[in-house]
Amino acid sequence: MLIPRLKNWLLSVTDPEIAIISGIIRKYANSQDKADSLVDACDKVFLQRLRDYPVALKLSFWENHFEWMSLRAYPEIQGHILDFGCGSGHSDIFLARNGYMVHGLDLSPVGIAIAKHLQAMESAEVNKRLSFEVADIIKDRENPILFDAAWSAHVFEHIPDPAPVLAGLGNWLKPGAHLLISVPLGYAYDDPGHVNHFADGEELKRFLGETVTVSRIDISQEYQVIRALCSY
Ligand SMILES: C[S@@+](CC[C@H](N)C(=O)[O-])C[C@H]1O[C@@H](n2cnc3c(N)ncnc32)[C@H](O)[C@@H]1O
Repeated sequence: MLIPRLKNWLLSVTDPEIAIISGIIRKYANSQDKADSLVDACDKVFLQRLRDYPVALKLSFWENHFEWMSLRAYPEIQGHILDFGCGSGHSDIFLARNGYMVHGLDLSPVGIAIAKHLQAMESAEVNKRLSFEVADIIKDRENPILFDAAWSAHVFEHIPDPAPVLAGLGNWLKPGAHLLISVPLGYAYDDPGHVNHFADGEELKRFLGETVTVSRIDISQEYQVIRALCSY
């Protein structure tokens, strides 16, 4: 336990890419108003990542990541895409580099600060296709843009009650828009933040309820994820 922690700490101070992100995480972690416990919990995920898995804060970790690459199999997810629960936005950088137009939204100011730091290093061409925003999908609706489609990877296993979240997400989308949801299969990638586990597509369908229509379920044994293609 101590040796991996020490190794991770060493990496976070010696790897220049991680060291900058570590600075962002620590600055926000120390300055945030902790009044909103949900926001605080979302921010803490990045402190945890820095401590336990800092390599996932590097762009190279996400370069050929199966989650953002899976969008190629879903032509319904096209146009101006909302990435709901984008976290640190690493995937969105690669989506934009690969021609997708994407807006990352997250409740965590730390996640979006990292995403904006990464965005600032991208070319003008990539920047034209990329934007980020801190917002709670349930409450805030200052952004007047209605998106063509939405993608949400590894978010719904953290959400106890999906109905208000799916309803909130619907307010950001054009009528009839598609939404692709990806969650771990069963107990894969398990961590204490996972409040839901989906053994199969039927469980995921039941969980998503009636706010959206599920048109396709795919299970990847290789990557241990279940995906639901939904529409509003
Ligand atoms: C496990 S992370 C997934 C991040 C990213 N999609 C990925 O695959 O690496 C889940 C994210 O959902 C965000 N989230 C949860 N509830 C939210 C809400 N109501 N509004 C906006 N973001 C939310 C959290 O802040 C967190 O960054």
